[in-house]
Amino acid sequence: MCGIIGYIGNKPATPILIEGLRRLEYRGYDSAGIAVIENDAVCRVRMPGKVEKLAAKIAQHQFEGTIGIGHTRWATHGKPSEANAHPHANGDESIMLIHNGIIENHQSLCSQLTGRGYHFTSETDTEVMAHLIDDAYRGDLVQAVKQALGQVTGTYGLVVMHTRHPDQLVAARRGSPMVLGVGDGEMLLASDVSAFLRLTNKVVYLEDDDIVSVTTKDFTIDTLAGEQVQRDAEPIEWQDNAADLEGFPHYMLKEIFEQPETITNAIRGRLVESEGMAHFGGLDDVLEEGMKAAQHLVIISCGTSYYAGLYARYVFEKLTDLIVEVEIASEMRYRKTNIRPGTVVLAISQSGETADTVAAMREAERKGALLLGLVNVVGSTISRMTKAGVYNHGGPEIGVASTKIFISQCCILAMMALLHGRFNHLSVTDGMEVVNGLMRLPDHIHRVLKEANHIHAIAAKYAQANNFLFIGRKYNYPMALEGALKLKEISYIHAEGCAAGEMKHGFIAMIDENFPTVCLATRDTTYEKTVSNMQEIKSRNGRIIAIATEGDDEIGDIADDVIYTPATLDFLQPIPAVVALQLFAYYCAMERGCDIDQPRNLAKSVTVE
Ligand code: G6P
Repeated sequence: MCGIIGYIGNKPATPILIEGLRRLEYRGYDSAGIAVIENDAVCRVRMPGKVEKLAAKIAQHQFEGTIGIGHTRWATHGKPSEANAHPHANGDESIMLIHNGIIENHQSLCSQLTGRGYHFTSETDTEVMAHLIDDAYRGDLVQAVKQALGQVTGTYGLVVMHTRHPDQLVAARRGSPMVLGVGDGEMLLASDVSAFLRLTNKVVYLEDDDIVSVTTKDFTIDTLAGEQVQRDAEPIEWQDNAADLEGFPHYMLKEIFEQPETITNAIRGRLVESEGMAHFGGLDDVLEEGMKAAQHLVIISCGTSYYAGLYARYVFEKLTDLIVEVEIASEMRYRKTNIRPGTVVLAISQSGETADTVAAMREAERKGALLLGLVNVVGSTISRMTKAGVYNHGGPEIGVASTKIFISQCCILAMMALLHGRFNHLSVTDGMEVVNGLMRLPDHIHRVLKEANHIHAIAAKYAQANNFLFIGRKYNYPMALEGALKLKEISYIHAEGCAAGEMKHGFIAMIDENFPTVCLATRDTTYEKTVSNMQEIKSRNGRIIAIATEGDDEIGDIADDVIYTPATLDFLQPIPAVVALQLFAYYCAMERGCDIDQPRNLAKSVTVE
C-alpha cells in the first residue's frame, strides 16, 4: 500500500527520493509525488500514474535541495489525481506532509478547520493533518506535529517538513510502519527498508506513538506523551541486491525461481534429522506453555497467508492432536470467538503489517491468548506484538502476488506441526520421515521449475479463457484456492477455487467447453475421488488441466493437459504442485500482457481495514 520515503543529507534529494519510490512501487499505488525544499521554498511535483511518469516530469527541473519527501499513494479517500496525491500542504505551502494510514475523524476536523478559514484542495483524509499542524505551529515543528496528532484518531505513518526548518524532518507512527535509516551524513525515513537499503543497512524501527526529529547527523525520539526514548540503530541482514531483477523479466518470476533457496533458508538449522524433530530458536521461550501443552490453536491471517493457514490445519491434524481453527483476520476481529487463556494464536503475515491481522491479534491478546507470529519482515509490527515467533528468512518479496513466502509459510507450518507432534504422540520414525520429506523439497521444486516451458505452452493454450475453476481435496484444497487467487490477482481472469467434493453443489453448473478446470490430483488418499470429479467435468465437455504425481500415466486419459510433480509424502505433495500453479498464473498473465508485478488495484501490504 502507500509508500513513504524522506531524505535529509548532503546530496540532492530528488534522485534518492525517486529511486526510493521505485523500490516502493511493489507495495501497490496509483499516484506519486515528491517535494523538496530549495532556497527556503518548496518544489512539489505530483501526478496520477507511475513513478516513471513522475521521474520524467521531474527531469525537466534541476532540483538541488538536499531535504525532501516522496510518496506513492494507493487511493482510499478520493480518486487518483494530482490534487489527491501526496505530499499535501497547508495554505501557503510552507508545510509538506506525506502520510500512510487513515485519519478516521478527518471529516469533523475538516469542518472545524473550515469554520476557522482553512481551505481544502483535495478529497483526502491526509490534508487535514497539514492544516492541523499549521494551526498548531508556533515555531517548534515537533511540538506542532504532536499537538496535531493529539487531535486525530486513526492510523498514521507520516513525515513532515517545513520551509522554516530546512534542516529537519519530523516523522511519527501509529499503526503504520516507519523506519529510520542512519547513514553517513544523511538520514532516511521510509515505510519499509527496501526504499533505502542501497544507502544504509543501519535501521531504527519506530514504535507506535514515537515522534522522531531528524537532522543530517542526528535524531531524537520522544513519544506523544512527551517521554524521551532511546532506540538504537540495528544492522539488518537483507541485501539490497535481493531487490534486483537479476535478469528475470519480473520479480514474480524471479521469486518463483528462488523457491528452492527460500525453502532451504526456511529449514536451515531448524531440522534435527536424527531425532525426527524441528527446533525454532524463536519459540524456545514458549516451548512449555505454547508448543508442548497447547491444545487449541487458532491461526489468523489474510489473503495468501490465510491459505497457508488452511493448509496448516490439515498438516497439524495429521501430525498432532491439536484442535486447530483457521480464521480470516478481518472476520475474526469482529466475532465472538472461543479464544481464552490457554489458546495459542498464531498470526501468519508476510509483511507483518496487515491491518486486519494486527487488529485480530489485539483482540486475541485481550482475551488472554498466547500470541505467536510467523512473519517475513524483520522488525515489523506483528513480529513486535507477539510473545515469540518464527521468521521466514525469505528476504524481500517484491511481487505483489505472494509466491516464495507462501511456500516458506507452508514449510515452516509443517515444521511447527512436527515440533508439536513430536512433543506428543508422533514417533521418531514418523518424525524422521517428515524431516526427510522437507529436506527433499528444494529438489522437488527444482524439478517443477524445469517444466516452466511446458507450463508456459499450456498457459498459452488457455490464457484467453475468461473463467477458470480450480479443484482439490484435503491438502490440495487450500492450493486450489491459492491457484485461483494467483490467477485472478495477476491475469484478471475470473477464477474460483473449490473443494473438489463441493463441485457438484453448484460449481459444476458453470462447466462447459469454455470453462476450463485445473484439477489438483496428486496421489494421496483422496486421489480416486478427485479423479471421479474429473470424469464429471469431462462428461460435460469441460477442459481439464491436471496437476498429477510423476508416474501417473492414466491421468492423461481424462485430462487434456497434465503437469507432473514429484512424488513425496502426501501432505507435502501440494507444495511442488502450487509452484506449477504459480507458473501457470504467471504465464497466463504474460500472454494477456498484464502488469505482473504491479497488478491493478492490489497492494502488497494492506495497512487499512
Ligand atoms: C495483500 C497481498 C497478498 C497477501 C495479503 C496478506 O492482499 O497482496 O499477497 O497475501 O495482503 O498479507 P500478509 O503480509 O499479511 O501476508
